[in-house]
Amino acid sequence: MMKTTNSISVLSDPPSRSCLCSLFIAAALICSVYFIGSSFVAKENKERLMRWGLVHSMYSAKPETCKNQQCRLPGTEALPEGIVSKTSNLEMRPLWSSPSKLNNQRPPMNLLAIAAGIKQKKIVDQIVRKFPSKDFVVMLFHYDGVVDEWKDLVWADRAIHVSAANQTKWWFAKRFLHPDIVAEYNYIFLWDEDIGVENFNPRRYLSIVKDEGLEISQPALDPVKSEVHHPITARRRNSKAHRRMYKYKGSGRCDDYSTAPPCIGWVEMMAPVFSRAAWRCAWYMIQNDLIHAWGLDIQLGYCAQVIFYKPITSISHSLCCINGI
Ligand SMILES: *[C@@H]1O[C@H](CO)[C@@H](O)[C@H](O)[C@H]1NC(C)=O
Repeated sequence: MMKTTNSISVLSDPPSRSCLCSLFIAAALICSVYFIGSSFVAKENKERLMRWGLVHSMYSAKPETCKNQQCRLPGTEALPEGIVSKTSNLEMRPLWSSPSKLNNQRPPMNLLAIAAGIKQKKIVDQIVRKFPSKDFVVMLFHYDGVVDEWKDLVWADRAIHVSAANQTKWWFAKRFLHPDIVAEYNYIFLWDEDIGVENFNPRRYLSIVKDEGLEISQPALDPVKSEVHHPITARRRNSKAHRRMYKYKGSGRCDDYSTAPPCIGWVEMMAPVFSRAAWRCAWYMIQNDLIHAWGLDIQLGYCAQVIFYKPITSISHSLCCINGI
């Protein structure tokens, strides 16, 4: 197994988590956050959540309808209707260009954001080359202060480079991927830099994600080449995606009745892929002081539930873990 350097361990998750993980899209992939269940269970859980004071925020997340400009964006009250730009994007604009020309360019539809150090230049280059420029905006979060040394790569000019010393992917994501800024992108790939992509095809991946209706997903890991810490993330044959794992022996059993991570509702923090709606939810869950995002993986299931107001069959372990650093 190819080991990537851990010399940046101050900046990344501990060595055990920064293995070179190979993603296989060809055979059968994606494990995901997904919840099914009877309304009975949902009701029971809703009651439990209510006791935890959680339901209010989860069930009142539907956008309010605005009538007669009753709810203008704060600070825009003085503006006439029609000149407010609520959202933006990461599209770079030419200094001089006629608007008509610009309008003909269709902006890419998805975003690939990677926290990268120069020591991983080669593997990051391999990752980015896999993502078609027609479909993906690329953003690099440089945590080691080195930006110029990326310039020779063919895609460097079209990537957006953000540099801040010794920060983690989650720090960058919270600051630079505000949901209103990335509102135009259908899917957001928020990836670590040490992901092996020999067998990964982003378009195929997204077609499966859409077919399966997955709001939050990750590529399944090659069980041979990767260190698989949670069996649910291991690639399985004979299915395009899986949403739960089974374990009938020993401790930590998982069966069809399991309702919580790691049996279902789990993605790792290493290579998550969010739908636009799920990212809006997840962004709010990233605390400002979050570093390695330990514990966030267990909570992400809430974001997959909130989006569709699906019956909640899973109460994640507890709320303590969201601060788990
Ligand atoms: C970043 O971390 C490295 C390694 O700990 C340290 O040598 C360097 O001074 C740090 N840089 C900044 C700007 O804090």
